[in-house]
Amino acid sequence: MTTVMLVGATGLVGGAVLRQAQSEARVARIIAPTRRKLPPHPKLENPLVDFEHLPADAPWWAVDGVICTLGTTIRKAGSQDAFRRVDRDYPLAVARLARQHGAQAFALNSATGADPGSRFFYNRVKGEVEEVLRAVEFPSLTIVRPALIGGDRDEFRPAEFVAMRILRLADPLLPRRYRIVPHERIARVLLEAAVTAPRGEHIIESDAII
Ligand SMILES: NC(=O)c1ccc[n+]([C@@H]2O[C@H](COP(=O)([O-])OP(=O)(O)OC[C@H]3O[C@@H](n4cnc5c(N)ncnc54)[C@H](OP(=O)(O)O)[C@@H]3O)[C@@H](O)[C@H]2O)c1
Repeated sequence: MTTVMLVGATGLVGGAVLRQAQSEARVARIIAPTRRKLPPHPKLENPLVDFEHLPADAPWWAVDGVICTLGTTIRKAGSQDAFRRVDRDYPLAVARLARQHGAQAFALNSATGADPGSRFFYNRVKGEVEEVLRAVEFPSLTIVRPALIGGDRDEFRPAEFVAMRILRLADPLLPRRYRIVPHERIARVLLEAAVTAPRGEHIIESDAII
């Protein structure tokens, strides 16, 4: 039986991970630090935290595996620096603390095109977070790189809305790696990685998220 930490549990993919983990027999406990309270569940511990000031000594860092679905948009964050803070620095801070407390596995929701040398800022930051996580040296590191994520959001994101429309129309003609990926499928892959902790580094590109 595994204890998993989930960061990003109030989001689209994180919400699916949370639901799946709650009904997954191999998961005994879920630690989900958030800044907004989650509905209670018998398996869930939900510390309310400020990711700028994570409590380094909290006993709940002692988990087996970590799943990170944190992320924002440049529009929401307000600047590129603020975006990088959420999408790179917060996952790194969580990874370091969990690793120090003995975590063996880390599963990251990254993105297609992640590359620290990319000329696109978003892809560059995703590449950077992957790189800094490698340096934390988890025995098991899984990086999942979906293309556009499908699912219902409360929030309206104009660029994603337009991309989604176009991709839905083109879907049958598109190679698998460009297709919209349902959020539940990404969640399933992340959860499996955190529970089974396969040794070494595993990169799962969008066309392999099934
Ligand atoms: N959208 C796409 O099509 C797409 C494609 C490929 C990869 N991705 C990546 O996939 C990941 C998950 O995406 P998603 O759509 O599930 O994201 P989402 O629905 O926007 O959820 C993001 C999560 O991050 C948390 N978060 C954001 N800013 C925060 C802050 N300043 N402090 C603390 N928590 C913060 C949110 O918490 P609150 O609820 O408190 O805001 C939420 O739990 C992201 O890293 C995203 O970049 C997205």
